Amino acid sequence: MDLGDQLKRMQRDWDARARENARHYVNTARDDWTDEEFFRSGEQTVQEEILTDMTNICQGILPRRMRVIEIGCGTGRVTRALAQVFGEVHAVDVSGEMIRQAREGLADCPNVFLYRNNGTDLSVLPAGLPFDFAFSSIVFQHIPSREVIENYVREVHRLLRPGALFKFQVQGDTNTVSAPEDTWIGIPFSDEDAIGMAERNGFEPRYRHGAGSQYFWLWYFRK
Ligand SMILES: C[S@@+](CC[C@H](N)C(=O)[O-])C[C@H]1O[C@@H](n2cnc3c(N)ncnc32)[C@H](O)[C@@H]1O
Repeated sequence: MDLGDQLKRMQRDWDARARENARHYVNTARDDWTDEEFFRSGEQTVQEEILTDMTNICQGILPRRMRVIEIGCGTGRVTRALAQVFGEVHAVDVSGEMIRQAREGLADCPNVFLYRNNGTDLSVLPAGLPFDFAFSSIVFQHIPSREVIENYVREVHRLLRPGALFKFQVQGDTNTVSAPEDTWIGIPFSDEDAIGMAERNGFEPRYRHGAGSQYFWLWYFRK
């Protein structure tokens, strides 16, 4: 399957999931989320992955002065909580329907900027703005293409200021079988794969946690 077809398929499948029950596909823990519980689960993600890690993330900059990127924001579950911490959050998603629902749900967050992108690059983000941090959680675990994930890494490198962190999660269970046409099961990464991808794209893979599991977290510092 060529890349163009694969990107169309991601967009089509995620739009369909968003129309059926967006919040369930964003966080499969429930299928009948209330607003409050849904956004509270996003606050929990920020509590666990961001607020415990502010030294690596902020590097002495006040969070309210930071501009951050989120890849694969869905309906804004984590985006809302990121916007309570950071100055500006620029969030992209391949699904126009997810973005439409995120716009509705986050209408009261003036520091959130939402974009539908093409599923592989960040050309929709404003050029020339320095970004201080990038984050992605439970997104790459659904992308069945190493090429697409590596392109996002290259794009984040283009946009982050030197020294800044890209913290993200990939599927680390190398027994996972992913197929190019299946947009639910992402391609797995070994520890070696994760190191290689960082080094090819100008990052230092300083920390890695959860190799071998679904929640393989990577800390890539831009050189
Ligand atoms: C399981 S949801 C998680 C949403 C959000 N990260 C969260 O934790 O609430 C995965 C999201 O990734 C988006 N997505 C999937 N493939 C993508 C791609 N290639 N580029 C951008 N977004 C993508 C989907 O549309 C969906 O909104």
